[in-house]
Amino acid sequence: MDRYLVFGHPVRHSKSPFIHTLFARQTQQELEYGLAEPAIDEFARALRTFFDQGGKGCNVTVPFKEQAFTLVDCLSPRAKRAGAVNTIKLTDDGVLLGDNTDGAGLVADLKSHGVTLADSRILLLGAGGAARGALAPLLAELPSELVIANRTHAKAQQLAAEFCDLGHVTAQTYEQLAGSFDLVINSTSASLQGELPPLAPALIHTDIAIYDMMYGASDTAFISLAKQHGARQTMDGLGMLVEQAAEAFTVWRGIRPGTKQVLRELKRNLGVI
Ligand code: ATR
Repeated sequence: MDRYLVFGHPVRHSKSPFIHTLFARQTQQELEYGLAEPAIDEFARALRTFFDQGGKGCNVTVPFKEQAFTLVDCLSPRAKRAGAVNTIKLTDDGVLLGDNTDGAGLVADLKSHGVTLADSRILLLGAGGAARGALAPLLAELPSELVIANRTHAKAQQLAAEFCDLGHVTAQTYEQLAGSFDLVINSTSASLQGELPPLAPALIHTDIAIYDMMYGASDTAFISLAKQHGARQTMDGLGMLVEQAAEAFTVWRGIRPGTKQVLRELKRNLGVI
């Protein structure tokens, strides 16, 4: 049977085996999908062994995405732009193709929530790997402006400079932020430390949509803050997780699974509904 897996560390709590097993059942594809948690300095060797032993493809998650970028034979344009690889496919002619489906997953999830990106004013919080992966797919939707704010301002400036050929993208400090944004996307890892990005609550208004790339069984701190200040719409990253997986599945199998039912099952599994 065709074998796939996700590499990460830690990876025990990954939802990817659950999601891909449901996709395979839904599309009647014969495959198995497992987990691999190599030691941090063993990833390159584990990846090689997996493909030497007949693996067809894999997902790569924290902390291996940047390393995977350097280990594949060939990069898709979106992986090149993201500087990271979350999906690897062994092609028929034995080439390891590195792709990145995270940004496409974010945009697909935003659209499935009915968020309009064209001509909108978007604020992206954070300038790490997650922000980098999101930028090109967001800018491809032609927002009127995309502002990046990051605790370390120089990193936001660097990202804005790197992506300015794709649209109107600027960097501002959290203190400089002003005016009315249509959508705020939190790509920071602040909530992993139980913290919040230092966004002035005054920027959250009743006509704003808030997206947190993180998710959990209950509201993230950022989503709670947004609700407290009357945000019109709040979304967490669970849908992005399912959508990036659907995109990876499509890369591997050439068939696109539906995501709605899988997302519902995942929520039930997490105890959210
Ligand atoms: P990822 O790959 O998940 O993006 P990362 O590359 O380590 O992870 O980036 C984490 C991002 O979250 C960074 O933008 C970081 O800000 P700095 O560049 O200033 O480090 C941001 N971040 C983490 N904790 C934060 C906090 N408490 N407040 C604001 N931003 C935070």
